[in-house]
Amino acid sequence: MAALLSMLLVGVALVQLGMHPSAATMDEDIELIWGASHTYFFMDGETESLALSLDDQQGSCFRSKAMFLYGTISMEIKLVEGNSAGVVATAYTISEGPWSYHDEIDLEFLGNETGQPITLHTNIFVNGVGGREQQFYLPFDPTADYHTYTIEWNPKYILIRVDGKAVRAFKNYEEYGVAFPTWQQQRLYGSLWDADEWATQGGRVKTDWSEAPFVAYYRNYTFAWCQPSPGVSWCGAEPRNSSRFDLDQRTLDELRSASDQHKVYDYCTDHKRYDGSEFPKECSLQRQGL
Ligand SMILES: *[C@@H]1O[C@H](CO)[C@@H](O)[C@H](O)[C@H]1NC(C)=O
Ligand SMILES: *[C@@H]1O[C@H](CO)[C@@H](O)[C@H](O)[C@H]1NC(C)=O
Ligand SMILES: *[C@@H]1O[C@H](CO)[C@@H](O)[C@H](O)[C@H]1NC(C)=O
Repeated sequence: MAALLSMLLVGVALVQLGMHPSAATMDEDIELIWGASHTYFFMDGETESLALSLDDQQGSCFRSKAMFLYGTISMEIKLVEGNSAGVVATAYTISEGPWSYHDEIDLEFLGNETGQPITLHTNIFVNGVGGREQQFYLPFDPTADYHTYTIEWNPKYILIRVDGKAVRAFKNYEEYGVAFPTWQQQRLYGSLWDADEWATQGGRVKTDWSEAPFVAYYRNYTFAWCQPSPGVSWCGAEPRNSSRFDLDQRTLDELRSASDQHKVYDYCTDHKRYDGSEFPKECSLQRQGL
């Protein structure tokens, strides 16, 4: 009885710290939204994994039960093997409420023909405005094994990491008049769906349904609340001049190397798209290293 009680107390303490007690309880933290008949949990050794599948009838989708405002979300994903042209797997966070001012942080994995690179497509919406696409080739075969994908969100920046390494940062430039998500809670979603209208080679390569069902695996969903400086009540109350969230040199180096070596598209350098019109403001701020 005493042992049970202390276990319960440890559980409560972990929840209060905003830490996830165990990777083996993913089914308690997420719920299936659609395609439940196409989705199953299974044990992979000690780790509980979730298989999302897609066939010509339906895809599948889950979401986290909890919502959060500032924190770090991590997930290991093993993408669809073989010919995944037209198939898109996602992990994204999104606020609830009206679409017209929703916030969203997107990671979408664009499938491809066997042996061709899978693209990590990222985007960030603030107050309903997106159009901030950056795409990267992954420097490994994301279908051969699980890799860790992380969204880190605090008042100063949003950081996307792959296997711990930063690939994209979207900084808070509110002082220059660029909107940043600072007040709406978000929830994690993961899904597998058919997007052969546009996903692969600009929509030229279609989904080969003879290969269905397509399956992507998700495991070890972890979430940790953003930790403010000692004495500060929560990250949103961190003083403006605090250095708590300054990017360190290692992260800056990782971002530069991802940009130089793996980036295949950046809205900030798409001159065709902004032909004759102004680039979004954050593009020049970023270039100036602000
Ligand atoms: C798919 O492979 C082709 C050929 O290597 C490549 O050009 C393209 O960028 C890849 N990704 C997508 C999403 O089409
Ligand atoms: C689960 O993910 C967390 C955060 O990325 C990591 O620290 C931990 O080692 C992972 N656990 C397992 C069992 O892989
Ligand atoms: C931040 O500003 C406050 C109030 O102006 C000041 O008391 C504090 O010392 C500053 N902290 C840093 C790290 O500069």
